[in-house]
Amino acid sequence: MVVSAAATKEAAGLGALDRLLAATDAEMQKVNALILKRADSHVEMVPELARYLIEAGGKRLRPMLTVAAALLFGRATGAQTNYAAAVEFMHNATLLHDDVVDESDMRRGRPAARMIWGNQASVLVGDFLLGQAFLMMVETGKLDALGVLAKAATIIAEGEVFQLAKARDLTATTADYDQVIRAKTATLFQAAAEVGAMAGGADEAGRAAMRDYGMELGLAFQLVDDVLDYRGESGAMGKNSGDDLREGKMTLPVIMALADANPAEREIIVASLGKPDASETALAQVAAIMNRHNALSRTVDQAHAHVRAARAALAGLPESEMKTILSDIAEFYVSRAY
Ligand code: IPE
Ligand code: IPE
Ligand code: MG
Ligand code: MG
Repeated sequence: MVVSAAATKEAAGLGALDRLLAATDAEMQKVNALILKRADSHVEMVPELARYLIEAGGKRLRPMLTVAAALLFGRATGAQTNYAAAVEFMHNATLLHDDVVDESDMRRGRPAARMIWGNQASVLVGDFLLGQAFLMMVETGKLDALGVLAKAATIIAEGEVFQLAKARDLTATTADYDQVIRAKTATLFQAAAEVGAMAGGADEAGRAAMRDYGMELGLAFQLVDDVLDYRGESGAMGKNSGDDLREGKMTLPVIMALADANPAEREIIVASLGKPDASETALAQVAAIMNRHNALSRTVDQAHAHVRAARAALAGLPESEMKTILSDIAEFYVSRAY
């Protein structure tokens, strides 16, 4: 059977992305305007650095999730604009900090902010964005939603610290990895979906459904990000591939490969793990070992399992066009892995 490119794209959820973009467009214009406005400061370097990162774009997946969740429940009050901007500010703050911690050179297709303004300014502007995120939450007067995002901020930081503690640890387990990605990535997707539901007037069951949906989506997303670090094209990703190995990050592909590797293969992996100057050839050798043991495809399989769980989380909600979009978009989050 011949499958057309369009059908493949549709199956990968790309059609759903267009529908999500269209359904959230009017709300996202307000969010984007607010994001730019709140990046302002009388201290020149703050907006300079912040706008450099913001104007590079990014997919804006998390604020779109907030807006979509608010629209899903049909009683959106307007608080979703502040919530969505706050979520994207938290995300951008963690990216500024993460690139310092990971010593990454590229972000969103450009030299990382730290390559231009330095590590110190990146950390400090990240702090500014975090502060603004909480201010925008406080301005809505909703303490419960503020609580969701404040808790998420602490869990994200814990996740990054736990990951750091596990770097280059050859005894790291799949359970450790799961703990890291739940905290550092999926928690923000979860919070983004939950505060959106709250802004949309969801009841407790609706809120819980969106919380589960966001968590599962976030897990799928990070699993794919970790595959792309070995399989991806730096250009398409807008960041360098191979960094995870060089930084000694114990991601699922490396944990699986180490578990199945023979002694010679293990030696090759260990020789590059956590070595900032590991060559492209060494990286390619490690990727080949991973493929030999299906470590990358098994990681993608796990991402698919989380996509199915995300869709299942929506099952009890009333049928609507937005519910269909959210259900279909889950597949898009893993489509990047092909
Ligand atoms: C990058 O997130 C950080 C991870 C959790 C992997 P995104 O891939 O959503 O980054 P942008 O916002 O689109 O640049
Ligand atoms: C992203 O982790 C999680 C956070 C930013 C908190 P990564 O280190 O995997 O993200 P990239 O690959 O740098 O985007
Ligand atoms: Mg990083
Ligand atoms: Mg990564």
